[in-house]
Amino acid sequence: MTLLVRLDPERPNRDLIEPAASIIRNGGLVAFPTETVYGLGADAMNEAAVRRIFEAKGRPADNPLIVHVCSTEMLETAAGKLTGKARLLSEKFWPGPLTLVLERNPRIAASVSSGLDTVAVRMPNCRVALDLIRAAGTPVAAPSANASGRPSPTSAAHVLGDLDGRIEMILDGGTTNIGIESTVLDVTTDPPLILRPGWITREQLADSVGQVEIAVSEDEMKRSPGTRHRHYSPRVPVILIEQTTQQSLRQILQEHLAKGKVGFIGHLPAGVDDSSLYAIKLRNAAEDYAHSIYSAFRELEDWGAQVMVVMGIDDEDEGAAVMDRLRRAASEIIRNSK
Ligand code: TXA
Ligand code: MG
Repeated sequence: MTLLVRLDPERPNRDLIEPAASIIRNGGLVAFPTETVYGLGADAMNEAAVRRIFEAKGRPADNPLIVHVCSTEMLETAAGKLTGKARLLSEKFWPGPLTLVLERNPRIAASVSSGLDTVAVRMPNCRVALDLIRAAGTPVAAPSANASGRPSPTSAAHVLGDLDGRIEMILDGGTTNIGIESTVLDVTTDPPLILRPGWITREQLADSVGQVEIAVSEDEMKRSPGTRHRHYSPRVPVILIEQTTQQSLRQILQEHLAKGKVGFIGHLPAGVDDSSLYAIKLRNAAEDYAHSIYSAFRELEDWGAQVMVVMGIDDEDEGAAVMDRLRRAASEIIRNSK
């Protein structure tokens, strides 16, 4: 059975945090909120506990986990000595949605890193998460708390939907602030390399440490095993519209409406109205998309959409991270349709 524990995200009660921390110390699994998405946590020093994360999610063993810490002292138990740039970045962006790939401390369970000699670490900017890690007294390995391949959870209800009965506890701290995952930055190379775009942009990173690259080549992508697998996807096909006219968007919608129930995310063109259409209106703004996209996917699924048509947003700054997720979720991408 999975216990759902609701707490005040601003002032989590210690009496509610402590049982969760005790589950972690004893090798169990606790889902908890962060500022990005919910994580599924286990003691990062406990090999058996970490393996249970992979089992509960159905996650491929070659996709390593992020270790969450609450202090620089705890960071030292997870990673080797920080280089100058790594230290600068951690001082500037932690706590926050930046994950640093660092040299691994051998005390971390081997499965956390899926056999790599590096470890991904971040300090979340979320009171519940920090209190939990501090109370557990150990670094907490935590991937997003969804079943593998599914949209990341931004609420406790999403976690329950995917993992009910497979984990001991969910700490419910409400809806997450940002809504998409952290930026993953490899700082074992120089210049540093973005392995997964996220809420902290390349420009923000470059302002602190100069040149920053974005992983594109096959070889570079191998270093971020997670980006190889299909990701963030609802159970039905997602059609991503990157560029189109109102006219052709109407046509695409009509075409699919002739076949069944259509979910839509974005700004609906005038003149489309159909009882088989369910539209979730989102502004063309990175914050709105980040905050709502995963829950919109799940809402349309629950309604019974047979296909989802999703409008893309501007592929720049924070929008680049949103577009990365949408492209990975999509089974078809429409560009330049006239
Ligand atoms: O915002 C987030 O990052 C959320 C919250 C819970 O912190 N976590 C998250 O974890 O998104 P997950 O497991 O869904 O994604 C972790 C990503 C994957 O793309 C994985 O391949 C990469 O981090 N990663 C982890 N360890 C790595 C390592 N040692 N080297 C390269 N990439 C690594
Ligand atoms: Mg994930």
